[in-house]
Amino acid sequence: MTVTTVPDIRALRIGVLCGGNSPERPGSIASGEHASKALAGAGLVTELIDMADTAVTELRERIDVALLGLHGLGGEDGKIQGALETAGIPYTGSGVLASAIGMHKPTFKLLLVRECLDTPRWVVVDPALTIEATLSVVRHSLGFPVFIKPSSGGGSLAAGIAHDEQQLRKMLEGTRSAAYAEYMIEEYVQGIPCTVGLVEIDGRLVTFPVHDVESKREFYDYEAKHDPNLRVEHCPSILSAPTTESMQYVARRVFRMIGAHGVLRVDFLAAASGRTTVLECNTLPGLSQRGNLATMAKAAGIQYPVLMQHVVRTAFTKPAYVP
Ligand SMILES: Nc1ncnc2c1ncn2[C@@H]1O[C@H](COP(=O)(O)OP(=O)(O)O)[C@@H](O)[C@H]1O
Ligand SMILES: [Mg+2]
Repeated sequence: MTVTTVPDIRALRIGVLCGGNSPERPGSIASGEHASKALAGAGLVTELIDMADTAVTELRERIDVALLGLHGLGGEDGKIQGALETAGIPYTGSGVLASAIGMHKPTFKLLLVRECLDTPRWVVVDPALTIEATLSVVRHSLGFPVFIKPSSGGGSLAAGIAHDEQQLRKMLEGTRSAAYAEYMIEEYVQGIPCTVGLVEIDGRLVTFPVHDVESKREFYDYEAKHDPNLRVEHCPSILSAPTTESMQYVARRVFRMIGAHGVLRVDFLAAASGRTTVLECNTLPGLSQRGNLATMAKAAGIQYPVLMQHVVRTAFTKPAYVP
């Protein structure tokens, strides 16, 4: 990490970029609204900007720094990062390459395997194969049950468990008319969903306490993520110290592995056996005041408005441009 001189953010116009057209738009609006309110409350000059109806070129004259509250395709995958690089606007979060790797789960998982880090076995659904041929591949490579999800999705959208071939056949038929370009199928791992947040604070990478969640649904699905009555959360996690420490260690390795910058959240499943396996990473984790990142920061003694200011500052600590 290169520590450069960070300007006084009180002298800057902070554009909080949110919304956009991704399927994760509602979560992104919450991220943007909470972050801009907290920053304004701390006396900072902020403007909430919906990227669904704004071109990056318009922002050049309007803001000095972009706090990215965008999630999912278009916002978290390197596209907007590339546009901001081209426009010369400092922005929070990872650069183009790390964002793209973080968005595309199969590419991210290839790197994990290369680093001998545990991730569920998987196959990418090949649209050139018939459904019957795909079922045969899954039968021989993974077995059942399996978990199917979009390769570049988020928020547990369009994801689900297939207990047997019949269920998977139905789900694969459904993917043909779905919004996502590519799907992947993973070995099903029975475990507690956990997440670890990392934020660069004053030039140091701080690893937050582990957050775990018991979902009252079949898995940690869209509904459980949005209805507090459908989940029980713990932060710090109630899992054992060796388990949580190993997830924090792996999260730091993931941060370096993809070349992340500023902020990252790494999602895991923790099995009863002690196995912890990496599901994915989020280069633009949710910034809402009630979200996982804010909860983890609070457990680390960092209040939400302070967290948002730390995140804004990371826009100015990026090393020289590496894609
Ligand atoms: N291989 C798997 N086995 C069991 N459950 C899974 C698996 N992959 C995902 N899940 C469930 O789906 C949730 C969301 O998965 P994740 O990979 O983090 O995708 P998203 O980008 O949608 O958050 C997890 O918290 C977990 O409950
Ligand atoms: Mg996740």
